[in-house]
Amino acid sequence: MDTTTTISPSVFYFGTPIALITTLTAEDGSTNITPISSAWALDRTYALGISRDSQAARNLEQCPELVINLPDASLVDAIERIAPTTGAADIPPYKQGRYRHEADKWRLGGFSPRPSESVRPARIAQCPVQIEARAARFTSLSSDDAAMIVHAEVVRTHAHDALIVPRTSHIDLDRWRPVYYTFRHYFVQGEPVGVNFRAEQ
Ligand SMILES: Cc1cc2nc3c(=O)[nH]c(=O)nc-3n(C[C@H](O)[C@H](O)[C@H](O)COP(=O)(O)O)c2cc1C
Repeated sequence: MDTTTTISPSVFYFGTPIALITTLTAEDGSTNITPISSAWALDRTYALGISRDSQAARNLEQCPELVINLPDASLVDAIERIAPTTGAADIPPYKQGRYRHEADKWRLGGFSPRPSESVRPARIAQCPVQIEARAARFTSLSSDDAAMIVHAEVVRTHAHDALIVPRTSHIDLDRWRPVYYTFRHYFVQGEPVGVNFRAEQ
């Protein structure tokens, strides 16, 4: 039996997929981009963990519409370019000195907007999967209320044609390379090691 030792990790980022959340900044009608890694789905509802002092949180409380854009490995450099920025003009105290305000993360990251079909925030054209969604509820993530869980219901899903198994709604698993955030390092998923009894292909 393997022995264990008690450790005190500073973060619990053991590995979750990255999403680039796009939300509407009501003041000027622009779309802000927020990288997150606290994102998972059950059926057609996403749970997104979003810091209360982010521009994304403010935007969602004013306009509960968003796009969950899923990047692939080709976009890691672009994600890192926008990573030390916030769309918030008043930078929260804990970010001061480490983050700067950036009103146009599209230009900074080299991302291209594409109009959404059911929600107001734009989609990110370069992301192979773009999920339009509506925030149905907000709940506190932690007892200090520093972050919230956004319960986002999927409205419409777009995928790059090259990823779709022809004439189906299936993603081609040989082509799909989501990016994972593991202890602040970026990874792509490795080789398949098994298949669930409910898999459809
Ligand atoms: C790869 C990555 C993953 C992140 N995951 C999260 C997350 O899950 N939730 C969150 O609130 N912030 C997360 N952040 C930090 C936000 O992106 C950061 O606070 C950003 O400044 C927010 O932008 P905004 O204020 O314009 O919304 C992550 C950043 C990176 C680069």
